[in-house]
Amino acid sequence: MTISKESISQGKIGIFDSGYGGLTVMRSIVDALPGYDYLYLGDNARAPYGNRSFETVYQYTLECVNWLFDEGCELVILACNTASAKALRQIQQVDLPKRKDSKRVLGVIRPTTEQLGLMTQSGVVGVMGTEGTVKSGSYPIEVAKFFPQVVVEQEACPMWVYLVEHNQREGEGADYFVRQHVDRIFQRNPKIDTLLLACTHYPLLTKTIQKFIPEGVKLISQGGLVAERLVDYLVRHPEMEARLRRAGTRSFVTTDDPETFEKQASLFFGEPIVAYHVEIGQH
Ligand code: DGL
Repeated sequence: MTISKESISQGKIGIFDSGYGGLTVMRSIVDALPGYDYLYLGDNARAPYGNRSFETVYQYTLECVNWLFDEGCELVILACNTASAKALRQIQQVDLPKRKDSKRVLGVIRPTTEQLGLMTQSGVVGVMGTEGTVKSGSYPIEVAKFFPQVVVEQEACPMWVYLVEHNQREGEGADYFVRQHVDRIFQRNPKIDTLLLACTHYPLLTKTIQKFIPEGVKLISQGGLVAERLVDYLVRHPEMEARLRRAGTRSFVTTDDPETFEKQASLFFGEPIVAYHVEIGQH
């Protein structure tokens, strides 16, 4: 199903997440690269992805990526750590080579880990993520490639995406679930001086997280890191850059209720947006 006739222009940058989280990355990307055309897809109807199996996350992500390609995206950013951890490699290595075009898919883990080790003085970083991201081991594996001396302490926070998707970002419930995981990771390793929000939903909980982290600990969101690397990617890949349209358009679609999405997303994206509903896969 297409969103509208005028939307099927070619050369867009697609940004995908299971729900609202990818908007935190899109904000930084649009700020860094304002001239391009963007199409955001939130699979809110099937969020969260974090506790789903490898096979399911791969299948959902592939469906969404193919949908974005069909809508004219040349480049898709998986603005979701869970999808980047569980589906990106297979899409890049198995699905993209089957296509007759040169469309590309990038994730958020690599651009983050390339820079993460530079931020710690103590040599210990904390990684807060979904169960899927933590179990995949992607962060310790990728950080070790660039910074073998850096220790990565991980903590899965299964409730945090629900808090964001259900608009419970502050208050007693949020305090309880946020504190539980923050306390746990610092009890395990008090030397952590850099805490990465390795789920694109988590920056929306920043206010609550800040209340419970020890003083002096740096809280890192990925948006800026991903945007910076994307700017660099487009410089290094002029053949891709040439295929991207620059009309400055931004479109937003969700697999759930568009009115709810508009309200929430406008808040997270920092400007009013109009959203359309699309059906993707089986719910
Ligand atoms: N924003 C996604 C991520 O970065 C959330 C995953 C989920 O839906 O649980 O992992």
